[in-house]
Amino acid sequence: MADDLRFPTGAEVIEANRSGLIGRAVDRVDGGAKVTGRAQYTYETQELGQAAYGVVVGATIGKGRVSTIDTTAAEAAPGVLLVMTHKNAPPQGEFGGPKGIDNRLAAAKPYLHSDEVRHFGDPVAFVVADTFENARDAAAHVAVTYEAGQGVYSFEDHLDEAQKPASPTSDSAVGDFDAAFAAAPIQLDETYITPIQAHAQMEPHAALASWDGDKLTLFMACQLLKATQRSVAETLMIPRDRVRIVSRYIGGGFGGKLCVYPEATLSALAARILGRPVKATLTRQQMFSMTGHRSASIQRIRMGADNDGRLSALAHEGIVHTSRMWEFTESVAAQTRRLYAAPHRRTQHRLVVLDLPGAEAVRAPGEASGMLSIEVAMDELACRLGIDPIEIRRRNEPDVDPESGKPYSSRSLIACMDEGARRFDWDQRSATTGTRRDGEWLIGLGMSASIRTNYLVPSKCGLTLNVEGRAVVRQAMTDIGTGTYTILAQIAAEALGLAVADIEVEIGDSEFPPAPGSGGSFGAASAGSALLDAAMKLREQAARLAVADPNSPLFGQAPESAAFIDGRILIGNHSEALSDLLRRSAPDGLSTIGELTPAGTYNDYSQHAHGAHFCEVAVSTITGEARLCRMLGVFAAGRILNDKTARSQAIGGMIWGVGQALTEENHVDPRYGSFEAQDLAGYHVPAHADVANLDALFIAEEDDKGNPLKIKGVGELGICGAGAALANAIFNATGVRVRDYPFTPDKILPGLPPV
Ligand code: MOS
Repeated sequence: MADDLRFPTGAEVIEANRSGLIGRAVDRVDGGAKVTGRAQYTYETQELGQAAYGVVVGATIGKGRVSTIDTTAAEAAPGVLLVMTHKNAPPQGEFGGPKGIDNRLAAAKPYLHSDEVRHFGDPVAFVVADTFENARDAAAHVAVTYEAGQGVYSFEDHLDEAQKPASPTSDSAVGDFDAAFAAAPIQLDETYITPIQAHAQMEPHAALASWDGDKLTLFMACQLLKATQRSVAETLMIPRDRVRIVSRYIGGGFGGKLCVYPEATLSALAARILGRPVKATLTRQQMFSMTGHRSASIQRIRMGADNDGRLSALAHEGIVHTSRMWEFTESVAAQTRRLYAAPHRRTQHRLVVLDLPGAEAVRAPGEASGMLSIEVAMDELACRLGIDPIEIRRRNEPDVDPESGKPYSSRSLIACMDEGARRFDWDQRSATTGTRRDGEWLIGLGMSASIRTNYLVPSKCGLTLNVEGRAVVRQAMTDIGTGTYTILAQIAAEALGLAVADIEVEIGDSEFPPAPGSGGSFGAASAGSALLDAAMKLREQAARLAVADPNSPLFGQAPESAAFIDGRILIGNHSEALSDLLRRSAPDGLSTIGELTPAGTYNDYSQHAHGAHFCEVAVSTITGEARLCRMLGVFAAGRILNDKTARSQAIGGMIWGVGQALTEENHVDPRYGSFEAQDLAGYHVPAHADVANLDALFIAEEDDKGNPLKIKGVGELGICGAGAALANAIFNATGVRVRDYPFTPDKILPGLPPV
């Protein structure tokens, strides 16, 4: 192929969208398998044979040491195969590892490696039995005594010990904030508090481990296969190629399944000792104490403005907590760096180290908390100056990224606000608080901006076309329920001119070509672009085959003009079924590997998806209860691959924002270092009746600066700013400005006028 024929690019093929599959609201291709139970999640996987059942036992103190652990009764209990504690657990890699990996996602994460208790719920034993019931029963008979130490549990009481994170990006500054703020005619200086929020994906963490000689196969609920493979290998101190991670179906992740948790490590260790498969799942309660949660935060926002609401100075300083086990910074001020123009600006993050389970990424880590403050502060400034909240944002719209000076790759923030305002009848908002009433209820409207950065991660993808005219996509990618299977099938089908039903998507296996996995909203753009590249290579192969084959009706034609549609390859007036071509010229099928390397323009632009939230709330003047009446999110995230999966993600994020605003909070019991809420009875998330009238839509946008699909991540956009819209609506309804999330009745009621 030494010629220099110019074949169409992936971007051109997607642009042409000849089959119309890009953007279409295709039903989830894995939907049928899921609703009929054919989709086997980790814990119900049958293909490795009958597994023994493991149950994790967690510490009942917050910090200290195990002084005695008596396993006699547990070992004598019916059906018990193994009781593992720090006394008999095999050696494991140290956290961080001998090679000094400080990335918590890929580092060794040992469990039962010492008698130390690092947090409430830290595993102290792992009991394996022939049935789940026997394992659970025996687990209750493990007798532990502790030497309790003094843990640091209270975020609020240790704010003065907050320290600078190791991350070099914790702080930023442009211009002279202090001088500009001092000189500003209008000064706003407010502090906002967000509590610990729980992670509780529908599917609890689960793992199923099986060894074949010295090779481990580990089924687990896991967002990032390659990082997990590395972490497990480092923990077990074996080469990475001896670890296969399989994660075909995952019941939610959102950051909660980025890291390796005890059920996986301990199942792997026990399966090797017992010489048979072992599986384990965390209980819902254990998810609260053994996996991640969102940090609490205290955020100070300062805005210096002129009387027209134009910012001259903007500072966002956040204190969040992290675990003593490893550092994780909830970067609450990150989006303040690029959301609004202001010549003088500063952001800062500080960490309070607590003896808690690892604070972790929870959907849109950083901005999901950070926008609960900046977007309320902007509303406060608007209300003080009597400027419409949309208008004040318009006046502070930057021409370029105000920190980096880079141009935005695309930015439809104002367009989203204008479209939302029109659809939501924003002009019916009363600028005076407390003026709309319906019986006992005060009614108000609020809005907020939304922004989430578009990340791109190197990715590969395998693609095979067989003689039946069907294609198989293979990638170490995951689908946490968000629609990966479906959008990959759409991209492959559109690029190859096949039907969605002709595409087999095989993901969730670390032995497939590497892909980033699901996290950070980078999945579709990264994995999808690698697939598109594979498809373009495959088209070229097929076209070259056809024109070189004297038996093909396409013989002698120009291969670069080939189009692919309805299972056929067309050049000019000539065409042939792909299956006929392959049967004759490539009976083993055609295979390619595609690749995405973030390069070129990606780093030259400031890339983010944007949106605007609008909501109407009613607040009871009798109880102080705030209820969502209706909510609309209008988003721009580049080209949308699938209007259904994108919309359901947006809505999911918005509902999470409603939870942040109204009900979600967890607190640490300072006596034990345990969370007060340990299940979904004590930790309140919105139910259907709380979010009855909620809609999301995407406006047309294409972003050609990041990837050939011209898409931007959508997964985390919906939560960003959503809760702030409710905060602002509550203020508009009542005149009560609460800055301490969530807005439970006890915080609103005292500010309401007497009934
Ligand atoms: Mo991400 S915090 O894995 O949605």
